[in-house]
Amino acid sequence: MNPQLLLDLELKRDSHNDHACLSLAHYSLYPELSQSAASFLHPRELAYFNSLGELKRKTDFLMGRYAAKLALKRLIPGVHGSDIDIHPGVFQQPLVTGPACQGVSVCITHSANLSAALAFPTSHPVGIDLEAIEASHLPSLQEHVETSEFPAGVRSVDEDIASYTRAWTIKEALSKVLRCGLMTPFSVLRLADDGAIQNQTWSGGFENFHQYRYLSLASPKFAFALVHPGRTQPIIALEQIQAFVS
Ligand SMILES: CC(C)(COP(=O)(O)OP(=O)(O)OC[C@H]1O[C@@H](n2cnc3c(N)ncnc32)[C@H](O)[C@@H]1OP(=O)(O)O)[C@@H](O)C(=O)NCCC(=O)NCCS
Repeated sequence: MNPQLLLDLELKRDSHNDHACLSLAHYSLYPELSQSAASFLHPRELAYFNSLGELKRKTDFLMGRYAAKLALKRLIPGVHGSDIDIHPGVFQQPLVTGPACQGVSVCITHSANLSAALAFPTSHPVGIDLEAIEASHLPSLQEHVETSEFPAGVRSVDEDIASYTRAWTIKEALSKVLRCGLMTPFSVLRLADDGAIQNQTWSGGFENFHQYRYLSLASPKFAFALVHPGRTQPIIALEQIQAFVS
């Protein structure tokens, strides 16, 4: 299996289209990438990476930055990964600086042995989240997700860990778009009751953020969510994401 995936995401509006790029990277790449980190990390990122002691954070950081640079390089042709600095803002939100990076943002997520990143025009906010599906997470997910938030077809399966994880990733993706992270009560990020299922992909809106909608897919291992402006039609090869996270 290819350990990385790079996909174009068209953000289609009535008036115009914008372009974004999604990348996913498997942690089997880490040993090799950690040896060549200077080739894609900005010197400031490299210094931070070298200062990290804990292997999990080191791996997540490097793989997240690798995925982000892949997506950014696709969006901004000719730019070198090591010229781009992705640094945290005051809410830990990722800020992109570097040549030709004005007006470009990135959203990063990591879970288990995968990282993903979405590079997009700042003018067209979108967000993603990825989460491993683990039965042991059910009690904590049940504290933050209600079965009434699931699309109609899955409402009866209230012990379904995949559905809880999907709803969680949708809320986390929205929290990244809003830059508030999970410091905001989960009830504020509630999914609306208009969720629908087509070819196992969920789509729907939010109770308190009518200007955004979501797409959600899941494999037996991972849940993945994309949040986008409600009047934007996102066009992306969902089946390729599905196959990669399976
Ligand atoms: C955003 C948040 C929900 C992500 O949760 P997580 O369990 O780390 O999950 P993920 O792996 O999916 O996402 C991590 C990425 O989210 C991004 N992120 C962090 N805070 C963010 C925010 N406020 N807005 C948007 N993105 C954010 C970062 O890029 C991070 O990756 P990196 O540290 O490697 O750059 C969580 O970190 C959060 O609630 N942050 C709020 C801000 C915060 O915690 N501040 C520090 C304490 S005061």
